[in-house]
Amino acid sequence: MNPRTYLIAPSILSANFARLGDEIEAVIAAGADLIHFDVMDIYYVPILSIGPLVLESLRRSGIKHTMDVHLMVKPVDRLIGDFLKAGADIISVHPESTEHLHRTLCSIREGGGRAGLVFNPATPIAVLEEAIHLVDLVLVMSVNPGFGGQSFIVESLRKVEQARSIIDRSGRDIRLEIDGGIKASNIASAAKAGADTFVAGSAIYGARDYGAAIRELRQALASA
Ligand code: DX5
Ligand code: ZN
Repeated sequence: MNPRTYLIAPSILSANFARLGDEIEAVIAAGADLIHFDVMDIYYVPILSIGPLVLESLRRSGIKHTMDVHLMVKPVDRLIGDFLKAGADIISVHPESTEHLHRTLCSIREGGGRAGLVFNPATPIAVLEEAIHLVDLVLVMSVNPGFGGQSFIVESLRKVEQARSIIDRSGRDIRLEIDGGIKASNIASAAKAGADTFVAGSAIYGARDYGAAIRELRQALASA
C-alpha cells in the first residue's frame, strides 16, 4: 500500500447482517478501499459479533477485497490462525488482549498476514516504540472499543499525532488508521493529525446512499 494515499474502510458492524455479502459488495461498488471486520467476544468488549466462519463464507462467495480484521477478543492468539485461514489480509490486535504481544504480532506475519497494533484512548503509545518493526498498521481508537455509533473522542487526535511521529521516525511503510465516530465533520482533523486510513461504520452504513456517504468523506479529506 502506498503511504499517505487516503483509504476508506467501512466497518461492517453497522451493516445489515442478514444481507452481509450484498452489503459488502455495495460498499465495494461505492468505492471502499478496505473492509473493516470487527470481531467482538463479550469478554474484551461487552458485545458478541462475528467470527472466522463468516469471513470464510464471504471469501467463498467470491469477495476478494482487502479484509481489515480488528480483533477485540481476549485471549486473542487462539483466533489468529483461524482468521488467516479464513482469508484475513490485515489482523489488528490490542496489546491488552495478549500476554506476549511480540509473539502475537510475529504469528500474524509468519502466517502471511499484515499485522496491526491497536491503541485504546487510554493506552499509552509507548509500546509502539518497542513493536514498530513488527507492524504494518497502527490503529488508533477514537472511541472505546465495543460499539458502533459512539461519539468521537477528540483527545485521540493527540495519539494520532504521536503515532505519526513514531512511524515517520522509523522510516517504515506503516499505515495509520483511525476508528470510531469518524464522520465528514471530523475526518479532515484526523487526516491533519496524521491518519491515512479511516474506518467509518455508521457514517457509511447508516446513510441511505453509500456512494454519496463515501464521496462526502473523500471531499472532506480533500480539504485536509
Ligand atoms: C468499535 C469498532 C468500530 C466501529 C466503528 O468498537 O471497532 O470499528 O464499528 O463504527 P462507527 O464509525 O459507527 O463509530
Ligand atoms: Zn474496528
